[in-house]
Amino acid sequence: MDKTAMLTLDGKSYTLPIIAGSEGERAIDVSTLRNQTGCITLDEGYGNTGSCRSQITFIDGEKGILRYRGIPIEELAEKSTFVEVAHLLIMGRLPNSPELRYFSDLLTDNELLDEAMKHHFEGFPAHAHPMAILSAMINAASCFHPELLTDRQHDCFLVQAARLLSKVRTIAAFAYRKSRGLPAIYPKPELKYTANFLHMMFSLPNRDYALTPEVVRALDLLFLLHADHEQNCSTATVRMAASSHANLFASAAAGVCSLWGPLHGGANQAVLEMLQAIHQAGDDGSRFIAAAKDKHSGKRLMGFGHRVYKHYDPRAKIIKRACDEVLAELHISDPLLDIAKHLEEAALRDPYFIERKLYPNVDFYSGIIMRAIGIPVEMFTVVFAIGRMPGWIANYKEVMESSARICRPRQIYTGPTLDHYTPLKERK
Ligand code: SDX
Repeated sequence: MDKTAMLTLDGKSYTLPIIAGSEGERAIDVSTLRNQTGCITLDEGYGNTGSCRSQITFIDGEKGILRYRGIPIEELAEKSTFVEVAHLLIMGRLPNSPELRYFSDLLTDNELLDEAMKHHFEGFPAHAHPMAILSAMINAASCFHPELLTDRQHDCFLVQAARLLSKVRTIAAFAYRKSRGLPAIYPKPELKYTANFLHMMFSLPNRDYALTPEVVRALDLLFLLHADHEQNCSTATVRMAASSHANLFASAAAGVCSLWGPLHGGANQAVLEMLQAIHQAGDDGSRFIAAAKDKHSGKRLMGFGHRVYKHYDPRAKIIKRACDEVLAELHISDPLLDIAKHLEEAALRDPYFIERKLYPNVDFYSGIIMRAIGIPVEMFTVVFAIGRMPGWIANYKEVMESSARICRPRQIYTGPTLDHYTPLKERK
């Protein structure tokens, strides 16, 4: 394989180094291109552009491979837990027993919000979207930890990471309770991460939510499957913020805002709303698929397609299987799951989707499980954000430990050439 690439421009030849990753991916290193040629590269949407070297997550989109620190997602989904995977992503290895106990204790020790933060929740209107509350309150939480703005030593990083990971769960639950006009339910130190979230979401002051192993396991699996996904839009946003040395909470809050978009993490909410609309219209999905293929309809088959996966998203496979298991365990029959399966079958036979290599992604079935658990659709992307937090934290840490320069892309200017100020009375 070549170790360099040749570029010919204006009659001159340039040699550019090829770098290779541990899985054999190759990149043309263009870091000296502008100095050598005066040209920059242009790749809108970054479909062909690597922003960094990373050791956290590997995806092979053609083969449908996803590994966290080298471990296949299928093994982690079957054998691990969200908290273990969070440690794996952030610290680079599965924790041994003392490390897992220490990390779990850190999460418990940091589960409460400062009491003064409750006043912030009161300021939001009842219909406030919980993603707006989440991003705002993550930054608000940082105000109670001024050491965040100064302390970047590695040895305290796990404490900061646990603080953010634990509090984001409490903030999310409080946001849900606020939106329902319900009193906040405080975490219980004896409950583990995911069970505590369900407790804070659904318990009442006079009656604790009845935790069942099936529901706790199903939600923990969703968190785990969302934990990281290399340089997706929101993780790239976190790395961008981290590159200016913004603090961990501020960088994570930026990730929440980026994740909210319906083309990204907001798709799980959009999928459920799409399925509900199809169900209410009495459509078996055929009419909707026809619209999704029509560029002028403004509709897309939400939960389908992916920038990297040109085959089935391995997470979608696992979630689809979990849908059947969870609904059976909860004795729920959901017509939306039947519609989703029919849509998948129809789309995967349709040349439009086949030619464009559009398959179900992580968002296509995840909402069915959340709906079965009782999580409202406006909280779906919040659940995604909680799950993605370890990946954002791990990528933040990787930036802060590297000698990475501040991210500052160039552009090709296509605006007006030199012009001059026109006094008001002369303007048309
Ligand atoms: C996530 O990056 C990550 O890793 C993200 C994520 C993570 O874990 O972080 O995996 C999570 O965000 C998953 C994606 C969730 N979004 C959706 O489900 C929204 C629906 N899907 C899309 O809008 C789209 O597929 C994207 C945004 C996911 C990918 O967009 P791309 O790579 O920019 O592809 P594109 O928009 O250029 O589409 C290529 C073609 C176009 O048709 P042509 O112009 O070639 O004729 O495919 C068509 C698109 O119109 N197309 C779709 C479609 N997705 C793409 N047509 C109908 N329905 C769709 N869902």
